[in-house]
Amino acid sequence: MNQPGGPIRFTLTPGFSMARTRRSLEATLAGYRKDGRSVALVPTMGYLHEGHLSLVDTARRHADAVVLSIFVNPLQFAPGEDLERYPRDLERDAELAMDRGANLVFAPSEGEMFPTGRPRIQVDPGELAKRLCGQARPHHFQGVATIVAKLFGLVRPDVAVFGRKDYQQALLIRTMVADLDLGVAVQVAPIMREPDGLAMSSRNAYLGEGEREAAAEIFQALSSADRVFRHGERNAESLRSRVHRHLDETPLLDPEYVELVDPQSLAPLQEAREGAVLAVAVQCGRARLIDNVVLGSPVSDPRLGETDVEPAG
Ligand code: PAF
Repeated sequence: MNQPGGPIRFTLTPGFSMARTRRSLEATLAGYRKDGRSVALVPTMGYLHEGHLSLVDTARRHADAVVLSIFVNPLQFAPGEDLERYPRDLERDAELAMDRGANLVFAPSEGEMFPTGRPRIQVDPGELAKRLCGQARPHHFQGVATIVAKLFGLVRPDVAVFGRKDYQQALLIRTMVADLDLGVAVQVAPIMREPDGLAMSSRNAYLGEGEREAAAEIFQALSSADRVFRHGERNAESLRSRVHRHLDETPLLDPEYVELVDPQSLAPLQEAREGAVLAVAVQCGRARLIDNVVLGSPVSDPRLGETDVEPAG
């Protein structure tokens, strides 16, 4: 469960606040609004890494004040998933967020988030949520969309920033904002990777030594398919099976799916084209890892990742 409120032992930089309750969140936000400052929200489940901190950088470019929320959202975990063992370290997270220039960390307990119990009304994320990760995690995106809608209600941000590693999530949130006129500008920031290519994720903390090495092959498999695409291969099945073979041949990796999909509908493609999304979910020991590449995109230029997830049309 989320950690109960405890004293924060590091020295707070002037201008940085920590809110464990709605009331203190509201008080700090009221100050920003009084000063006419725009607000960006970076929603997270904590155990921050460079990927999250790069979202703070993006947020700072788009708004005057950055709120980073930390809430391990029980609505998006099915029974038997890793809710209880999801890594948590609030004190370290708050210090990292502060040092990176976030203005406010909002880290509510479950009781504070759901004062009258879990929401009776939840967001139905529709068809997009049934694709890719939704096949193995059928209720996951309902939980994500519901908590993000709730965070938007609590923070009322001008801008919200999500990472492209969770491509399906970013697309779903953009689509929810467009369809429900939520009035939040959604920015999608590029994937941050370890030097060997592994996409940064809080769940990488589950990887043992051999597993950590194996996990780096996920990006190698995706990049090799992207390379043959750039050399002219357009057959989706051949790109998919290239990735599948690479993952199958790597000990300790157990692929859940390898799919080449339309970037807006997430429908599987027969023919590969520039901008199509090649996405995988792979089990590696106790960690379920996801990653993706946008075929033919200039992945070496991190700024270009910011606008490449459009709402579903
Ligand atoms: O990407 C995540 O960490 C979560 O799904 C989010 C968006 C914070 C909602 O709980």
